[in-house]
Amino acid sequence: MQRKIITTKDGSKTIQIEEWNEQYHSVHGAIQEANHVFIKHGLLFCYSEFFSQTKNEISILEIGFGTGLNALITLLEAEKLKLKINYTGVEAYPVLQKEIEQLNYAEELNADNSIFLEMHNAQWETQREITENFILNKQQKFFKDITETNTYNLIYFDAFGARVQPDLWTEVIFKAMYKALKNKGVLVTYSAKGSVRRAMQAVGFIVERLPGPPGKREMLRATKYGNQHSTI
Ligand SMILES: C[S@@+](CC[C@H](N)C(=O)[O-])C[C@H]1O[C@@H](n2cnc3c(N)ncnc32)[C@H](O)[C@@H]1O
Repeated sequence: MQRKIITTKDGSKTIQIEEWNEQYHSVHGAIQEANHVFIKHGLLFCYSEFFSQTKNEISILEIGFGTGLNALITLLEAEKLKLKINYTGVEAYPVLQKEIEQLNYAEELNADNSIFLEMHNAQWETQREITENFILNKQQKFFKDITETNTYNLIYFDAFGARVQPDLWTEVIFKAMYKALKNKGVLVTYSAKGSVRRAMQAVGFIVERLPGPPGKREMLRATKYGNQHSTI
């Protein structure tokens, strides 16, 4: 499918799939959205809630590594918090070198672009220490092939929308996400669709509706409490 780079409202770039009229991030602001959904309501929430239990170390699974924006802002946060992060990014269709070169995230975030490039140059299926606090493990595979159990504290669920990939927002996928999380683990997503919330609840998640990023009324945060059972 044809992909092109566009500029979102906060000045940061994203990739657009023209055929689907779908973007990798919100057109209202890629960096703003990523910071709101994944850092504010994901990482910082986990950090404050579970800090003592996770021994200053958090394991994150990203559903859709894509442009690497979420990985970059998470690395910057890890440095600020002096928090060790093990970051697994799953992606079936890696972005191309010529696309990476057009992304302006490091510039917009006043970060070192060589770190961003190092993440993209890191080999797939290999652990790579990008900084002392940030270990990256990129896995090139389909989401349906995620089989880990009780492994992650936090999931960034950043698949394309249910409008274009409805099969990625079903009970089958959320069951695998639930299994992959540790007890009290958290999944955050930009989606606020009722059908998505109900699929999460059906597999056992306790789901909160939170204020969304610019341009979106709400988003979802789902927590795994090990003793909860599916309601369906
Ligand atoms: C919304 S974009 C991800 C945005 C990404 N988190 C970022 O910050 O750039 C969704 C990503 O999921 C990937 N993807 C789509 N379907 C997939 C599947 N079935 N398995 C694995 N990756 C998939 C796409 O290639 C794309 O990179």
